[in-house]
Amino acid sequence: MESPFKPDVLKGKVALITGGGSGIGLEISTQFGKHGASIAIMGRRKQVLDAAVSALQSLGIHAFGIEGDVRKQDDARRVVESTYKHFGRIDILVNAAAGNFLVSAEDLSPNGFRTVMDIDSVGTFTMCYESLKYLKKGGPGRSSSSGGTILNISATLHYTASWYQIHVSAAKAAVDATTRNLALEWGTDYDIRVNGIAPGPIGDTPGMSKLAPEEVNSNARDYMPLYKLGEKWDIAMSALYLVSDAGKFINGTTIIVDGGLWLSRPRH
Ligand code: HXC
Repeated sequence: MESPFKPDVLKGKVALITGGGSGIGLEISTQFGKHGASIAIMGRRKQVLDAAVSALQSLGIHAFGIEGDVRKQDDARRVVESTYKHFGRIDILVNAAAGNFLVSAEDLSPNGFRTVMDIDSVGTFTMCYESLKYLKKGGPGRSSSSGGTILNISATLHYTASWYQIHVSAAKAAVDATTRNLALEWGTDYDIRVNGIAPGPIGDTPGMSKLAPEEVNSNARDYMPLYKLGEKWDIAMSALYLVSDAGKFINGTTIIVDGGLWLSRPRH
């Protein structure tokens, strides 16, 4: 679908996207690039990164990939520094890297719980922490009055409760708290806006094929509002809105992009 945004809305900006090699992260990378941004993508798998970078470059996007695991602080620091060295500034950090699997609470080991917390919650904070120096007003490559922006990809699982997702629900609740607290502290001190997006079920993503392969054909469709499954494009357009000047007064909020699904109930 054609973008409703002008193609130069992110012209001159540099975006670092964790988990940018696949799924929602790759679509955000693609749309940011199509709207003028230079793109650095971070991921653990070299093959996935290489394929994504080739795809971005074939669209005429300035893109490069850096291997790294958001659970390792040294990796986070190295990736952030490489992005700055490569492009000379960092304007946007998107935390899209996430881990997930379906498991009942009684079958989930504490280490399994911790693993997802480490990727989603601690990983998000670590990337923010290591990026602060470059995102804050007056940082390398920045003016003294204008900071960058952070976007955290969350979920709606923890608004109520979700079967077999105790680890991810806890992790995304922590992500939302991190979004609000950084928006308060870094918005005030450094002119950095920090927001989130909580996607509903989005078709053609690793998350959907892993978590709900049968969802599309199930009875749930009867009570899913709007167009049932979302598209990666829907998330990327919301991301563009939040990180562009269109969102310049939005700080500390997590926008739900699920067609209203989390509100829905069976008809009777
Ligand atoms: C139970 C599991 C498990 C499973 C791993 N563990 N998979 N427990 N069921 N299916 C446990 C292990 O037993 C171990 O605990 C601990 O977790 C660590 O496992 P490892 O295999 O060593 O972890 P690692 O190799 O680091 O892999 C991390 C991962 C992996 C999270 C397990 O699946 C991953 O990285 N996935 C990323 C890709 C992904 O899922 N992306 C989509 C995100 S979608 P013990 O105790 O045995 O040592 C998303 C959307 C959410 O987040 C919202 C949807 C609506």
